[in-house]
This record gives sequence, C-alpha cells and structure tokens, in this order.
Amino acid sequence: MSDLTLRFPVTTLDNRELLPEGTVVTDDVLRDLARSSPGAPHRELPFLENDTIRKDLSAYMRQDVYRQIFGEEEEYGPVLSFMEQIMVPTPVFDILFHFRGNEGYTYRHILIVSALTCLFGLSLAQNFRDVLLEASAGPLHDLGKISVPLELLRISKPLRRTERAYLEHHAVAGFVLLGYYLGDSRKFPCVVARDHHERKDGSGYPRGIRLADRLVEIVVACDVYDALISPRPYRKRSYDNRTAIEEITKMAEEGKIGWDIVQFLVSRNRKDRPPREECAVSEEKRGIPPEGNLYGIVLEDDDPVRNKPGPGGDKLLV
Ligand SMILES: [Fe+2]
Ligand SMILES: [Fe+2]
Repeated sequence: MSDLTLRFPVTTLDNRELLPEGTVVTDDVLRDLARSSPGAPHRELPFLENDTIRKDLSAYMRQDVYRQIFGEEEEYGPVLSFMEQIMVPTPVFDILFHFRGNEGYTYRHILIVSALTCLFGLSLAQNFRDVLLEASAGPLHDLGKISVPLELLRISKPLRRTERAYLEHHAVAGFVLLGYYLGDSRKFPCVVARDHHERKDGSGYPRGIRLADRLVEIVVACDVYDALISPRPYRKRSYDNRTAIEEITKMAEEGKIGWDIVQFLVSRNRKDRPPREECAVSEEKRGIPPEGNLYGIVLEDDDPVRNKPGPGGDKLLV
C-alpha cells in the first residue's frame, strides 16, 4: 500500500480520536487499531431492517429526480428486495442517524448511493458475490465524513485550501474507521471508503493511484452521478439529468471511468431500458451546468474573499 499520512485526526461519532494527525497509516497501525476496538468485529444488522431508513429510502427513490433511473415500484421493488441482504456493523446506524438529524444532504446521498450501487451491481458485476459486495459498500462509502467538522459539510461558500483538504480527509478517515468497526481494513467496504475518489487515470485522491478495481469503479460512477443530480449546499440548483450524464460521459472520455458503466447509466435513463450493450453514448454536449456552482473553487487559506460565485466545479466531488 502506498503511503497514507493523516493530515487530520480520525475521530468517531462521540469525538474519540482513533488516530491523531500526522499518523502514517501502515498495515501495522491498522492491525493494532482493529485489535483495540472494543467488541470488534461489531455485530452486523440488516441495513433495511431499520424502518426509518427503509421508509426514507423508498421515499427518496420516488422523488422525480431519482424516479427516472429507479423507475416505478415494479422496477425499484426488486432493488429494495436485494438490498435486504446488506448487513452493516451496528455503529453505522448511529452515524447515519447523526447525519439524518444534522446533515440531510449526506444522509440522502448515502442512501441513494446504496440503492444505485445495488442497481448498477445487479447489471454490471460478474457474479452474485460481487453484486453483494458492491451493494454492501454503498451505505459505508462516505462514513468517514463523521471525522469532518459539520460546519465544513454544510458550507455554502468557496472552500479554503485547508478546508478542502479536510473534506477530502473523509476518504482515508472512512478507511480507518471501517477497519476499526469491521475488524479488518482489507475488507471491501474499507477499500471502497479509501478509493472511491480515485480515478482510472490517476487524477483522484487520496493517493492518486490508477484505479484498477472494477467494483470500486462502479461505486465511483454512482457517487458522482448522485452528487451531480442531488441538491448540495454549494450550488443553488442541481445538474439536470442530461447534463449529469454528459459530465459522466466526459469522465469516460478522459479515461477516468469505463465506458460500459456510462452505457448502463444511459440505458437506465431511456424509458424502454434497452440492453446496455446496445446503448450508443452520445459525445455531443448540449447540457448547461448550473450557474453559481462553487464546487472546486479553492481559495488560499489567507484569502479574505469568500463570496465570489464562480464558474462550474472541477468535478472532484466529495
Ligand atoms: Fe459520496
Ligand atoms: Fe466521498
């Protein structure tokens, strides 16, 4: 594993510091931390057995913005049924309810990405085991946001460089936290937490590796797609569906994700849901990104100006 050094501490929901800033996250550090976790590996419970989560997710899937891709009940019903097999460690529920109460964007995003990874996995993963792995990673991919101050998650102004780095810290923080809760940081959800902002061309973070894991790549597409079409504090409007698909097509053109994933996204956005293989992806760009999107505008730490709206973001969505 190439070097990961913490720029910020990794903390739990009750603000306990698991690892201080400056720690070099080696296999030994992770092993010792997992051993120190009281009760780890934690008991796992079915994600959707929680009534509130199940109801919230069903309600989100019926919203106009998501209905396009999930369809009506006869289409999204089987996705929900499959999701009943997803198990998550018990501390995850407390974290999700913390977001539900304090940071609704993150809560909805985690739930929708869970359903998207399941939907995409059912079509794109090779076998049942991989579909289950894919689906199980969704609810956990952004858990590291619990180590990022709430004010930063809510911020609706351009970020300063250090704040941006703090937001990006959620990837490695999630990797460490999940290793702590699951008892082994080599498990797939930990890898997804760490690598879901990496890209195939090496342009992502935290390590800037060339992402080669196909299952993680599917989470990347689901994560970016939802980030574009959902409300966010840093822009007034979401991307419309067409523009969001064009943005993701651009990612494939730049070698950041694979074309078959884009093809699947396009097929889900056609009413008749043609087979992915038969879907030609248009490279024509006619969509209009929302105005005043502050994402990707990074100010120097000593820059006093916070209020300048700017051009569209740089697509490094957290
Ligand atoms: Fe995410
Ligand atoms: Fe993320």
